[in-house]
Amino acid sequence: MRKFPIVFCLAAAAFSLAACKDRRQAGAPAAAPAADASVQAVAVAVAVAAPAPSKLSPPAQVGQRMFFDPTLSGSGRISCATCHDPAHAYAPANDLSVQLGGADMKQAGTRAVPTLMYKDYTDPYSDEFQNPDMVSPPAPGGGMTWDGRANTIAEQAAIPLLAANEMANPSPDAVVAAIEHGPYAELFRQAYGADVFADRKRAFELAGVALQSFQTEDRSFHPYSSKFDLFRNNKIGGALNEAELHGLRLFVDPNKGNCVACHLIGGGNGGSQDITSDYSFAAIGVPRNKSIPANDDPNYFDMGLCGPLRTDHLPTTANKGVGCGMFKTPILRNVATRHAFMHNGVFHTLDEVVHFYNTRDTEPGRWYSRDAHGKVRKFDDLPARYQANIDDQMPLDGRRAGSKAPMTEDELKDLVTFLNTLTDGYVVPADARPAPKAGVFGPATPSTPPAPPAPPPPAQPASIQKTAAR
Ligand code: HEC
Ligand code: HEC
Repeated sequence: MRKFPIVFCLAAAAFSLAACKDRRQAGAPAAAPAADASVQAVAVAVAVAAPAPSKLSPPAQVGQRMFFDPTLSGSGRISCATCHDPAHAYAPANDLSVQLGGADMKQAGTRAVPTLMYKDYTDPYSDEFQNPDMVSPPAPGGGMTWDGRANTIAEQAAIPLLAANEMANPSPDAVVAAIEHGPYAELFRQAYGADVFADRKRAFELAGVALQSFQTEDRSFHPYSSKFDLFRNNKIGGALNEAELHGLRLFVDPNKGNCVACHLIGGGNGGSQDITSDYSFAAIGVPRNKSIPANDDPNYFDMGLCGPLRTDHLPTTANKGVGCGMFKTPILRNVATRHAFMHNGVFHTLDEVVHFYNTRDTEPGRWYSRDAHGKVRKFDDLPARYQANIDDQMPLDGRRAGSKAPMTEDELKDLVTFLNTLTDGYVVPADARPAPKAGVFGPATPSTPPAPPAPPPPAQPASIQKTAAR
């Protein structure tokens, strides 16, 4: 259940964006003029939960080539996969809060890199998004990036390709030229027509469609192969141990973690299951990250929904900056493999994250900077005039400093143990598999194939979590 200030719903009507009723975006981007028949066919196949095709469609093959192609960057040194590494759940391999890019590879980003997994059910952003919990009133939700400013995966691709601190291409035409003169130009023509390069604007849009086709068709973006998936589907090997089960109970307990209020598990959009985000926007007031160069300027604030990267909800006297500080609830699948957490990457372990949720209000001095008089500046990454936007749901219910925190240390440990069950590539231990038995038509056969292919990425044991940094 989500709560939003009523004022937002009123203000929302004033600057309502074109409402998009599309329930899901896989393979059929709203902005793309030319999702071809094969892409559409794939979209239908996915919608009825058929297994992913073993062979990618021509547009998805183009997208795959593009995804790993460093010649599509101004520096010639980075591709999408540099920041979205398939071996790290399509997130960075390193520990940095924000990544470096640009023509000289020295320009820092301003936000942590999200995973690209399980994004295929994300609807376009709307001020009056229907929450997939089907109970909460319409409120801001959906879209790509931390502030939802790209409607589809296809549209989103233009951001990194052109951003001066990311892939730093001087223009869309430069991207099209690189494809036209590169090794998969012919594949691009096969996917989109022999004369596709004649219309440069359309060719650039189709490049985005190709990237989206890859990200929606390729099974590696949504394998549903975590221990939690086995558990939810009553499959062999999916029995959670005591600590994991306890962590799950805390995750859904409205008086403890209450994580599920935003990180939805259960049925979601378009028949999706356990995506772990309801795509809603919330201001949870994470601390300012001093390691981001942009934050050297004391007047710079990344306020998510109300800018500055997003420009259609800038604070005004009329709207009172009602969206300021709000970011899209991230998906927690594979969260235990991440090295930087929250939109500004201020945390580096899950242990830190759960301690923040538990003690933001009871021990603010542990998280926020101090002013010249030594007074804690709670919510130091959001100007005081917008701090009324901070969400007050459990476990961040605004309780008094010095009062009792909602969860104990042991409970936090189990919560993290549960979060580790959301990592894909879980391999059922041999002793949890059924014993071989006599086959109906012959002698006993092993219950597992002799050499099962190692599913990428490998299962991450609980020990992946570094010990508490605080
Ligand atoms: C230099 C690092 C970098 C590179 C290279 C990069 N990205 Fe990203 N990506 C990011 C960051 C940072 C964000 C979050 C942006 C924001 O919130 O404004 C992001 C967000 C995204 C999202 C939205 C995910 C979500 O959860 O909303 C998608 C999709 C995406 N990138 C795809 C791509 C594709 C496709 C490419 C290659 C064309 C690419 N990225 C290249 C850093 C990068
Ligand atoms: C009020 C809605 C809400 C509740 C309740 C909530 N979260 Fe979040 N969560 C968010 C939002 C919004 C963000 C992103 C905030 C930001 O970056 O500023 C987030 C970020 C996170 C992240 C960082 C993920 C990443 O990829 O960087 C983790 C981990 C997380 N939450 C876990 C939890 C856990 C565990 C609980 C329960 C103890 C919980 N959340 C409760 C909304 C919520």
